[in-house]
Amino acid sequence: MKTLYEQFQNVFGDGGEIKSFFSPGRVNLIGEHTDYNGGHVFPCSLSIGTYAIVRKREDSLIRFYSMNFEEKGVIEVELENLTYEVEHDWANYPKGVVSIFKQNGYRVTGFDVLYYGNIPNGAGLSSSASIELATSVLLNELNRLAVDMVEMVKMSQRAENEFVGVNCGIMDQFAIGMGKENAAVLLDCNTLDYSYSPVQLENASLVIANTNKRRGLADSKYNERRAECERALAQLQDHLDIQALGDLTIEAFEANEHHITNPVDRKRARHAVSENIRTIEAAKQLKAGDIEAFGQLMNESHISLRDDYEVTGDELDALVEAAWSEEGVIGSRMTGAGFGGCTISIVENQFLESFRKNTAEVYKEKTGLSPEFYVVEIGNGAREIKQLSEAL
Ligand code: GLA
Repeated sequence: MKTLYEQFQNVFGDGGEIKSFFSPGRVNLIGEHTDYNGGHVFPCSLSIGTYAIVRKREDSLIRFYSMNFEEKGVIEVELENLTYEVEHDWANYPKGVVSIFKQNGYRVTGFDVLYYGNIPNGAGLSSSASIELATSVLLNELNRLAVDMVEMVKMSQRAENEFVGVNCGIMDQFAIGMGKENAAVLLDCNTLDYSYSPVQLENASLVIANTNKRRGLADSKYNERRAECERALAQLQDHLDIQALGDLTIEAFEANEHHITNPVDRKRARHAVSENIRTIEAAKQLKAGDIEAFGQLMNESHISLRDDYEVTGDELDALVEAAWSEEGVIGSRMTGAGFGGCTISIVENQFLESFRKNTAEVYKEKTGLSPEFYVVEIGNGAREIKQLSEAL
């Protein structure tokens, strides 16, 4: 924090009241590609994320600076002129948030902000939603707007959908805004009803493994999957009174899947339905303390994402399959959008070292890439850091 404050003063000069904020990354335990299908997700917020150091200005200028993109320098924009600009690169995310706040009628002033993030870039741990929520909470505090967190979550998602142009669901922003230490959030994306489940794994840990394969095709394939699910839903709606694929049981789906004429769309819908049911079941098992059953559902989730939804790809499959054959692995699956990014596994603590070593070896042999591992710490959602001691 001291370095961040010093850096802020180097870039923007000293004086005035400086405030600081933290917004986490997220990892999803289960419930993938269900959010935009009106199903359930089960993510947690991480202890890594984005820091924002900020000072209010009296005029309408905003100056953005990121320690992760120092080569881009200070990016200046006027509050009255918030449009997407390719050369503003990363700063389009916070700009989008300011723009949506304004569109919603919130009065905001200019500010100087420095961001620093320790989420690995492009790893599918939601560095973009993290910077969006960091910006939402800082706008809320600086301007004393008293907006509630769910509202900020929705505005952050809109910034990404409408300003940046990425058609994501609500999971990432919700997990980051509403996350709670040592708990996962079970969220019904249709109603936004949610509840927290303590994540107590006894002698095991959650481990994120980064394939280090950039999610190259992710955006176009993501939109393609959304369109496939929408087509399948529309055909089912000719026969069923449903709002979303998340409204269906497996039995109801199986009795009606013949109405979906395109076999590819049918597979996609099958995943959306089965994954939603698995997620509800997994949250139940975790609550009951049955970690083995939870792990089994994680494995089934990966198989469905691989075979029905087809969003895994060689790297994620290689890393998950390597994990499955290791001693002490209770469950392992891809997490996030897919096509690269990370896996999440539950690993018994006494096997953590051998897990790392052996899966890395097998994975490297198959793909030529070296994975990275992080033991997950589940932290709180986006917030102001009131005391330096909290941050240190
Ligand atoms: C990305 C999106 C989320 C969600 C996941 C897949 O992370 O941003 O909204 O759809 O993919 O579960």
